[in-house]
Amino acid sequence: MKKNVVILAAGKGTRMQASIPKVLHKICGIEMINLIIDTLDDIKIDKTIAVLGYKADKVKEILPKYVDVAIQEKQLGTANAISATKDLLTDNKSMTLIISGDTPLLKKETIVNLFNEHENNKNDMTILTAIKKESFGYGRIVRDSDNTLTKIVEEKDATEDEKNIHEINTGIYVFDNERLFSGLKKISNNNKQNEYYLTDILGILKEDKYKVGSVIINDEYEILGINDKKMLSNATEILQSQINEKHMNNGVNIIDPKNTYIDKNVKIKSGTIIEPNVYIKGNTKIGNNVTITMGSQINDCEIDDNVIIKNSYLESSKIKENADIGPYAHLRPNTIIDKKAHVGNFVELKNTYLGKNSKIGHLSYAGDAEIEEEVNIGAGTIFVNYDGINKHKTKIGKRSFIGSNTKLIAPLNIGEESITAAGSTINKDIPKHGMGIARNKQSIKENYWIKSTMAKKYIDK
Ligand code: UD1
Ligand code: CA
Repeated sequence: MKKNVVILAAGKGTRMQASIPKVLHKICGIEMINLIIDTLDDIKIDKTIAVLGYKADKVKEILPKYVDVAIQEKQLGTANAISATKDLLTDNKSMTLIISGDTPLLKKETIVNLFNEHENNKNDMTILTAIKKESFGYGRIVRDSDNTLTKIVEEKDATEDEKNIHEINTGIYVFDNERLFSGLKKISNNNKQNEYYLTDILGILKEDKYKVGSVIINDEYEILGINDKKMLSNATEILQSQINEKHMNNGVNIIDPKNTYIDKNVKIKSGTIIEPNVYIKGNTKIGNNVTITMGSQINDCEIDDNVIIKNSYLESSKIKENADIGPYAHLRPNTIIDKKAHVGNFVELKNTYLGKNSKIGHLSYAGDAEIEEEVNIGAGTIFVNYDGINKHKTKIGKRSFIGSNTKLIAPLNIGEESITAAGSTINKDIPKHGMGIARNKQSIKENYWIKSTMAKKYIDK
């Protein structure tokens, strides 16, 4: 049977107290709604629909192109949200999975199992329920004495007895498509919140003698519905520990997994060591036997085998084998560090290529530079790349030696195997094997100390 999925995400998520829609909040680097879509990725789904409303354009922007969007103009309740998909779900013979956009930890196996249960039992509706110690806020599953499902009651409409029920509605269901839309027509908004509750459909289908089944799951975290920032942080903690566990199972040495933050799409190979308080984000890829020491943050970088990164901040850069970075270096976007090159403390690089075996060790800034192999850049060197309006390039040929505290005023071409004298401000190209020196000549004033105020201090004593 053909499979559809509807993800409900029209609400603002008032309890989040945020200006962005709830489903755009990220967990381990990925928006809640896209975590769900990723989970569905390798199940064969014929049609995926997101019901959007609050700031729909913002949500649509981050969805994969194959997801259809249905707009719910006013958020009149979850049943009303499903009605918005009517024109997209015309195949009566298909089955439709409904998920709330705020349930991001759901696992693929659970969804597959729910589809199978529905199909094998020829159900009209199959609901996923969970037993939760803390059931506050969820719809409760009411069963009669012989354990058959009768209805779902929302927290706000529940009696004291019903509030004591620990079996909750996860907000995840599979429906026979025809039954879904015929059932929706009978739902009213006669309840405490004056909303059209999708949950009422269970009672309606039962009354009409249709077949309703359930799957109960035991993992009470998987179905966590995120309604506020506290739950967002709970979900982050759970997903983060799953991610870290996966890396440790793959041979990554995470010293303190509770204090290590790795986004979901990050890839790391075995033998790598990660110290506490490291944050690795975005689509970063890390090779074998890399060492990352405490406090480092790495965003969208590619890091090859045997690299060492000490307490540094790296963005959109590429670092090749055996290079070492830091402590306290800042690599800004478009920086490439070639094999065995060294970037030392308090060095900032931006849009710069540092060639094989080259070194920039201390207190320097390089922007828009191309530095060939085996170059040594002395302490305090500044690449003066910006004239206030435009950026300019500096090129340094191989085996050159840039003396400490050189200012290199771009555009500039320093030839191979050439030298700049320490303290120079260089604004003219230097030819191969040349030396550039641009500083005042030193002069000596004999016996100057004797006349200085400093001397008086000692002589008076
Ligand atoms: C819902 C269920 C509750 C269940 C819980 C599981 C109903 C009436 N209640 O409650 O039984 O235990 O989920 O997490 O369904 N939405 C729309 N349009 C609307 C209203 C909501 O698209 O008009 C979307 C929201 O954006 C959200 C999802 O539906 O993604 C669920 O809405 P929410 O308000 O969070 O429902 P709960 O009160 O959590
Ligand atoms: Ca919810």
